Amino acid sequence: MTDSSVAALRAASGPAARTRVWDLPTRLFHWALAIAVFGMIGTGLNGAMEWHFRVGYSVLALLLFRLLWGFAGGRWSRFGSFVYGPGSLAAYLRGRAHPDHLIGHTPLGALSVFAVLIILALQVATGLMADDEISASGPLTRFVSGDIVSLATGWHKAQGKWIVIALASLHVVAVLFHVVVKRHRLVRPMVTGDKLVAPASGRMAPSRDDAASRWLALVLFALCAGVSWWISSLRV
Ligand code: HEM
Ligand code: HEM
Repeated sequence: MTDSSVAALRAASGPAARTRVWDLPTRLFHWALAIAVFGMIGTGLNGAMEWHFRVGYSVLALLLFRLLWGFAGGRWSRFGSFVYGPGSLAAYLRGRAHPDHLIGHTPLGALSVFAVLIILALQVATGLMADDEISASGPLTRFVSGDIVSLATGWHKAQGKWIVIALASLHVVAVLFHVVVKRHRLVRPMVTGDKLVAPASGRMAPSRDDAASRWLALVLFALCAGVSWWISSLRV
């Protein structure tokens, strides 16, 4: 969020009110994913393959869950709330973002969120088909041709791993930049769920985060964990 956009948002709408933006399932997803990705980089680089696989199946379950939650989750977690056109991105970069675009993920933040999710999905998909030709081979290796196994292993080790490390680092640096330099409180909302939002028409609609939506998230996550467990069981 640029300083002029923040000022415009405040001027347009009076005092801000505490509003639920990140529902509990999204927050749990985020911190579990962050820990798991650090774990994947650590176990991968150190050759701790049994743990690499175990944590990898958790990343798979988390990503499947986020895909479903992008349609069934609270308002600001739905993909529809942060798929922006080039016009919105340009307006944001010029400091003239629509106030609604400053509540959840901003147009630039949304790009980085999609990039992180897509590159992680690719890393998991190639990992499932990778083979180190010693003892570690992914559960889907035996279902695809040798050429695809080589391609997947090559990508996983040569490009994918560095892109994951680069994007994860960029993400953390970008968050720190917003917090330290621009003085935006981004991290606390990812912990408590709430942001201060101006009460202008339509903008305050909070994310649903009641018991029913949390139970729904639990059921969806159990489903995703089941699919991930089933995929893991295909390993011989
Ligand atoms: C490898 C580690 C990490 C990964 C893979 C990761 C991934 C993500 C993803 C996918 C989102 C989008 C959330 C969603 O809508 O589902 C996100 C948002 C966010 N992450 Fe992380 N994250 C990581 C580490 C961190 C750390 C260490 C911090 C804190 C310093 C952090 C702070 C945030 C914040 C504040 C947001 C919300 C940004 C916004 O307001 O638009 N992340 N992260
Ligand atoms: C977030 C997801 C993942 C990350 C960040 C990641 C990262 C890494 C890293 C850093 C390495 C070491 C590469 C090297 O030796 O230079 C590696 C190797 C490997 N990973 Fe992953 N990985 C992920 C997901 C997975 C998954 C889900 C599986 C399988 C279930 C998997 C299977 C493998 C295998 C078999 C290797 C060994 C490849 C070889 O040495 O030939 N990975 N991964």
